[in-house]
Amino acid sequence: MKTPTALMALIEDGVIDAVLRPLKSGKEAAVYLVRSGDHVRCAKVYKDMAQRSFQQRVQYQEGRKVRGSREARAIGKATRYGRRQQEAEWKNTEVDALYQLRDAGVRVPEPHGFFHGVLVMELVVDADGAPAPRLGEVELGPEQARAFHGVLVRQVVRMLCCGLVHGDLSPYNVLVGAEGPVVIDFPQVVSAAGNNAARRMLLRDVNNLTAWLGRSAPELLDTWYGEEMWALYEAGALAPDTDLSGHFEHDEHEADIEGVRDAINEARDEALIRQQGREAAELED
Ligand SMILES: Nc1ncnc2c1ncn2[C@@H]1O[C@H](COP(=O)(O)OP(=O)(O)OP(=O)(O)O)[C@@H](O)[C@H]1O
Ligand SMILES: [Mg+2]
Repeated sequence: MKTPTALMALIEDGVIDAVLRPLKSGKEAAVYLVRSGDHVRCAKVYKDMAQRSFQQRVQYQEGRKVRGSREARAIGKATRYGRRQQEAEWKNTEVDALYQLRDAGVRVPEPHGFFHGVLVMELVVDADGAPAPRLGEVELGPEQARAFHGVLVRQVVRMLCCGLVHGDLSPYNVLVGAEGPVVIDFPQVVSAAGNNAARRMLLRDVNNLTAWLGRSAPELLDTWYGEEMWALYEAGALAPDTDLSGHFEHDEHEADIEGVRDAINEARDEALIRQQGREAAELED
């Protein structure tokens, strides 16, 4: 294929030898399969900042450290300089998060560096060596859904122990690799301690996974892992291997307990409808 402009410099520098094919083009990035020596890897090229909503991202910046005060002001004001800076920040955030999470034992693609604005990383593959499907594209049996849920909740706990919340965790940002689920796509990662929205985002992240996997294993829909881990985290009592029960005693005075569970409630209704459908079908036989 014709080498995309964004990847030319990587070939010139000898970081990669060839571009094999495009893998996927998402909202924010285009991912290519590339060859680097004997290895097939992924190269993630970030789309132009102009194509993304800038303002929408400002909330994610809260609590993130910015070097000089000029930079901080520029980012705040969304000036041209600020946009350029923010773009650099944005691109580095995912790379920094990947290295940090890899070191903390979170299941993420192994990063192989950041060159000319392009992230080179391990290609996550399925049992046949093909690029791994996304969790949202595979049908799971109840046992596998429960097992994956356990693994993913543990990854979220480990991230939280690093002080990070994914912020966009969904069945489409989890790949089903040969050795189980792998979490991807970190440009919007948020600081757990410094961001007022972090708790809400964490609960949403966990709920998205629970709602999806709860379609295959409905008992998951009655678990409260996000709430449980956040309470422990806030109390300074969360460790990477802390055992969780999925139970949580809600504070009666808390207003928004159910609000954040919309995804779960929808999944629960859906499970109920499907159950009724199955029962109706059985009656007909
Ligand atoms: N390391 C990887 N191994 C295998 N496939 C990958 C890898 N990284 C990304 N992909 C594929 O490329 C797609 C897009 O990657 P990613 O989610 O990081 O970018 P994105 O532009 O933010 O996507 P979207 O906006 O669709 O969420 C993923 O859904 C996945 O299918
Ligand atoms: Mg994605």
